[in-house]
Amino acid sequence: MTIIHQPEALAEFLRNRKLKGLSIGFVPTMGALHEGHLNLIRICSERSDVTVCSIFVNPTQFNNKDDFQKYPDRRESDIKLLANSGASILFLPSVDAIYPSGVNHLEQYDLGKLETLLEGKYRPGHFQGVCQVMARLLKAVQPDRLYMGQKDYQQCMVVKRLIEIIDLDTELIACPTVRESDGLAMSSRNFRLSPEQRIKASTIYKTLIYIKDSLGSVGIEELRKNAQQQLEEKGFKVDYVAIADANSLESSETKPLVALIAAFLGEIRLIDNMTI
Ligand code: PAJ
Repeated sequence: MTIIHQPEALAEFLRNRKLKGLSIGFVPTMGALHEGHLNLIRICSERSDVTVCSIFVNPTQFNNKDDFQKYPDRRESDIKLLANSGASILFLPSVDAIYPSGVNHLEQYDLGKLETLLEGKYRPGHFQGVCQVMARLLKAVQPDRLYMGQKDYQQCMVVKRLIEIIDLDTELIACPTVRESDGLAMSSRNFRLSPEQRIKASTIYKTLIYIKDSLGSVGIEELRKNAQQQLEEKGFKVDYVAIADANSLESSETKPLVALIAAFLGEIRLIDNMTI
């Protein structure tokens, strides 16, 4: 595995591979790698000649300073995990390499309703930050395919929109959520849960299953209320429990639907979703 720190060096390295007709797959991450990330890399490397993984904790997408400062840093163990994962290139840029003119006055993207619904509403500016970094990463890599996780359902929709806006010839492949044995969606933020919180955290998955199993026999509004109550009883502070159109994320009662949850355990915010 080759480690590259500069976007220009990465673009140059990949240009040579592309001239040889090799296909490029890309898995962007913020590190603290877990099986969810490694599964994306495995899928990507099975389908691509060259698999690029990036690790970059993007300061512009954190609407909460504390969350950014406490984001787990496991660079040493991440590099070891990646070396055995099928990744050909690790792109490991500094903040200056990605944002040479600083992080103020960056471009803004028209994301329409995606920016006012759910994650867009509860994390103002978050998706602009995701787009700012993803535009830079995608322009450096120019992959044939981009592999991302369905765990971040709305993020996949936002990045699809970004690819249209910046007019890249890249296909986004959304891959299934990888879970712990009790159903908790794997996440770098899980590393920060106390043992007691870790046990409670699987309630989110159980609540999504409850919604899926009860759809049709319980009305949508009652389902949402019951789900919220189940979470609150376990000590969660709920941002939202939504049952929405799977394509637009607007409230809906007609399939295809997706149930989405965002809730805090202590200061740790967890999200998950399930198509129902
Ligand atoms: P990060 O949270 O590190 O996630 C990187 C990729 O891994 C994302 O596509 C995410 O959806 C996927 N992923 C995370 N947990 C997963 C799980 N349990 N199962 C399957 N896929 C999972 O998402 C980001 O970083 C950043 O916003 C990024 C896109 C890198 C831009 O900074």
